Amino acid sequence: MQVVQIDEEAMGEEYGREMCRSLEQGNILVLHNSPFAPPPEDAELLRSQKQSASSAFKNIAYKPHINKTTGISDEKGMDAEAVHRILSAYSEGALKFLEALLPAYSTLWKVDYATFRPVEEQGRDLPINRRNDLMHVDAFPTRPTHGGRILRLFTNIHPDKPRVWVTSWPFEELIKRYAQDAGLDEVLKMPASLRRSAAGFAHKLGLKVPDNTAYDDFMLRFHQYLKANQSFQNEGKVDQTAFPPNCSWITFTDSIAHAVCSGQYALEQTCIVPRRAMLQPDMAPVAKLEKAAGRRLSAV
Ligand code: SIN
Ligand code: FE
Repeated sequence: MQVVQIDEEAMGEEYGREMCRSLEQGNILVLHNSPFAPPPEDAELLRSQKQSASSAFKNIAYKPHINKTTGISDEKGMDAEAVHRILSAYSEGALKFLEALLPAYSTLWKVDYATFRPVEEQGRDLPINRRNDLMHVDAFPTRPTHGGRILRLFTNIHPDKPRVWVTSWPFEELIKRYAQDAGLDEVLKMPASLRRSAAGFAHKLGLKVPDNTAYDDFMLRFHQYLKANQSFQNEGKVDQTAFPPNCSWITFTDSIAHAVCSGQYALEQTCIVPRRAMLQPDMAPVAKLEKAAGRRLSAV
């Protein structure tokens, strides 16, 4: 994994393709001054909101497609209207920046949520599956990507503390070491028709179930498996990177195993980039897993 500084002066089609390729290779792109970060008074207002560390909500999420903010747990300690306004402005600015930086992706991606992460991550009391301080690859239980990539832009809005990440080996190495133990074969054995009929049945009952592909099923397992694997957590730490205040960083969090070991107050915007938008499709986790499995894992 390399940390690559974004050169704003160079932005354009060709530079954009270079940046896409770098992301697909598993690197983190970094921008030290974030023009889309909230102005100081809004950042201060966000930081003053009170969210308990053990809240049922892990983050506060702005959902652009319905223009709603969810996860505000304690109405008394929070100015819901201001949080919504600041998050929606951040989302708009972050997406404009990503569009200018990565034009090859922006016409095809699906805009996902923007989040505010108000709680100190060091020593945060959450169940294993929801902990961010254990290295993992990202996979969303309710929003399958069907082989698409999870592209995330983070911004540290702490006034003086860095947000510190640890990252691990390349995805291919993770597969080699752990895919079988994590249950790749079991996922492969599950017939697609069974998966589809389970989804159809739940749909008939009025339940909302995601239409997972084999890829999505495996990635959810892998997320949990890596978090629970103590020897991976102990031995798999390869790099530690500190992102200073007002810094933004962009990466594909479905392929880079990451954990945040300390830091408070971050904003984040997610986009799902479909498989067909990749400049080096063979490097995508879905392609690496298909190679290991010897068959397709997602029809898309
Ligand atoms: C994560 O995606 O695991 C959390 C990263 C962060 O909040 O810095
Ligand atoms: Fe994550």
